[in-house]
Amino acid sequence: QPVYLADYTPPPFLVDAVHLTFRLHPEKTRVLSRIEFRPTPGVPASRLFLHGENLHLIDAKIDGTAITPEITDEGLTTDAPDAPFTFEAEVEIDPAANTALEGLYLSNGMFCTQCEAEGFRKITYYPDRPDVMGVFTVRIEGDQPVMLSNGNPVARGDGWAEWHDPWPKPAYLFALVAGDLVAQSDRFTTRSGREVDLNIWVRPGDEDKCAFGMAALRKSMTWDEEVYGREYDLDIFNIVAVDDFNMGAMENKGLNIFNSSCVLSTSETATDDNFERIEAIIAHEYFHNWTGNRITCRDWFQLCLKEGLTVFRDAEFTADMRSAPVKRISDVIALRARQFREDAGPLAHPVRPESFIEINNFYTATVYEKGAELIGMLKRLVGDEGYARAVDLYFTRHDGQACTIEDWLAAFEDATGRDLAQFKRWYSEAGTPRLRVTESFNNSTYTLHFEQETPPTPGQPEKHPRVIPIAVGLLGPNGDEVVPTRVLEMTGTRQSFSFDGLAARPVPSILRDFSAPVIVERETTNAERAFLLAHDTDPFNKWEAGRALARETLLAMIRDGAAPDPAYLDAVHTMLRDDTLDPAFRALALGLPGEDELAQTLFGLGETPDPQAIWEAREALDITRADAMQGTLDALYAAHQVTAPYRPDPDQAGARALANAVLGLITRRDGGARALAQYDAADNMTLQLAALGCLLRAGKGADVSDAFYRQWRHDRLVLDKWFGLQILSADPAEAAETAARLTEHPDFTLRNPNRFRAVLGALAAVPAGFHHASGRGYRLMADMLIALDPLNPQTAARMCAAFETWRRYDPARQEMIRTQIDRILAAPGASRDTIEMLGRIRDG
Ligand code: ARG
Ligand code: ZN
Repeated sequence: QPVYLADYTPPPFLVDAVHLTFRLHPEKTRVLSRIEFRPTPGVPASRLFLHGENLHLIDAKIDGTAITPEITDEGLTTDAPDAPFTFEAEVEIDPAANTALEGLYLSNGMFCTQCEAEGFRKITYYPDRPDVMGVFTVRIEGDQPVMLSNGNPVARGDGWAEWHDPWPKPAYLFALVAGDLVAQSDRFTTRSGREVDLNIWVRPGDEDKCAFGMAALRKSMTWDEEVYGREYDLDIFNIVAVDDFNMGAMENKGLNIFNSSCVLSTSETATDDNFERIEAIIAHEYFHNWTGNRITCRDWFQLCLKEGLTVFRDAEFTADMRSAPVKRISDVIALRARQFREDAGPLAHPVRPESFIEINNFYTATVYEKGAELIGMLKRLVGDEGYARAVDLYFTRHDGQACTIEDWLAAFEDATGRDLAQFKRWYSEAGTPRLRVTESFNNSTYTLHFEQETPPTPGQPEKHPRVIPIAVGLLGPNGDEVVPTRVLEMTGTRQSFSFDGLAARPVPSILRDFSAPVIVERETTNAERAFLLAHDTDPFNKWEAGRALARETLLAMIRDGAAPDPAYLDAVHTMLRDDTLDPAFRALALGLPGEDELAQTLFGLGETPDPQAIWEAREALDITRADAMQGTLDALYAAHQVTAPYRPDPDQAGARALANAVLGLITRRDGGARALAQYDAADNMTLQLAALGCLLRAGKGADVSDAFYRQWRHDRLVLDKWFGLQILSADPAEAAETAARLTEHPDFTLRNPNRFRAVLGALAAVPAGFHHASGRGYRLMADMLIALDPLNPQTAARMCAAFETWRRYDPARQEMIRTQIDRILAAPGASRDTIEMLGRIRDG
């Protein structure tokens, strides 16, 4: 049942042109197709196989003659001429019954599609693989006021609209939207003078939530022209907001479809973090037009070819639009929380996987975020200019093609003359390398000794040394930088690098800017960490030093109930008072390592984490910090009140982030007085939501929470925040009950993935609550997965990752989790998606 990368064969038939006619009807949509096929030159003749699932075939013809193909659950097989021919079919599908949200479905009465990865086969019979690229012409017939598809509009009349996309594309980039929609519109002139109509389509009533998204789109278009030399290539660019959507957004050619949470915003309903995320996702989908659409993937094993590169590009964009250090630090926090966790557990897989059962299960942090880290390492290794040349070569050489990682790396080798054979291991070997560092100093020569080792991962017991770019700088004893950043290239298992002419033993700043996705292990002291927090010139490592200090402090507290290290308290206090530091940076440096990160760290050290003890240590440290820095916190809170009208820009957002972080500590002392005042005065969601969170954590949130619900019950996206926050702010002993109660709430539904994730995703995100010794968290998760799986396998399967860390815990917890995994697997109608995920989690 698994598919293997090694088994790839080229498609026997290619598609020149596709004509589709949709006769829309909620339960009985007819799809008429006319596909021009031609045998692939050089590929042995074979029968024609077309993917198709849950389709009711009305009739089929080849070159005008009716045929009776063989039909299975997977598709249709028929004899075909060994020369160009036309295949025609009419099928009937039922969008209203489509709860999986893959293929053509209804969301609030609006017809919409999601085809990546393999959803087009639920629309009509087709070679649904990305290396088959065709030119699509689409006619939509129906009574919807707005009917959209890919490419440019050709003609429209009463009850119909026609679209033509001149760019050949794989079926996964097909899209159709039809409904009662209104647009916020704008215009963009590309640098070569093409006039492009821009539209963000929403349900009536949401028009005022598009302005920020539109500005983000314009910025993305300009940035891709200026930085990558890439222009838009159609006369129209449409974005549609859809409430029911499995993922964040989708880059369909000329018709991007977005989860409404990733595009709609107003200052009253969206937080600063939401705004930043919306800007990044709009950029991400727009950037796919070149990295994904013009150049696509040969097969789904190459997913990182488009996703890693596009995540890297959107991160560069955000760094340019906002603060580069803050973006880098936030990305590393997320990478460690999600990707390192994945890489250390049973779901670990290479950035380019070599087999899968359900490709939807591989839209992972490893493919996306680690995939982006690999691009960053490549860029560091070949330099900015080499990178620009290589990427240009990639674009010119492969425009219009379906490519592989080999093609991508060959462009780098040819443009820069560098051999990337060893670098390629980053794509094929899973697991996070450990980088052990020791040092020596004599006669003014300082030497760093590195040793790399990657632990085994499922199916990959043996690992090989990788090329690791290690950005290093050295600081002198009084805090000056004596050696500025230089990139050491480690290729062996063990390697040493020396620095001459040093008057005194320096303090090293290793892996600056997080130059490789590895775990650095080095014996050091809290005094040295505090020194780096105070003096490092590299913002990432400055933050990292504070993070390490907090981690060591917490580990000591967790292990033997030690009191918080005064060195940590002093260092963080000094950092907070340094007004030369960006408030956003200070907010990040005030944050503590997450409970899950601490659990992973302890497990990595051979210990069994106790989720409750971890939670208590973080609580205790917060109380200590609130006491130790009382005056500073009050002053910071006052100094970072924004008086200007709300703008979601980095300066204002940084001030609010610091004020809100500080408010969390202040609430530890004042029991919520200031949070309540902030709640009452708030004119934006960033301040309102943070205040509500503080009050809920202080046990003073019940009335305010009710008021919040009454204020926002009409707004689905805000209600999602309300659902989640109650669980995130609950005492561990009550988190599972709170979540269970919320699943009974009249506004809870399994039909909306955002709502499901708001509740169950929040439960999975509070380790002490989810892993509560009662097992209630596990049971609730299993109950809800069993309920969701038959309706929406994709969203259910993704949530299964909540269980991926089970082997970290004690035998009692392991036993409880295993029981729940087996119960889900035994449920009637368990999906292929979920069976694959839980099987890997249980047996990996
Ligand atoms: N290509 C989309 C993006 O990253 C993600 C869509 C994935 N959808 C899915 N069903 N797996 O922008
Ligand atoms: Zn993407």
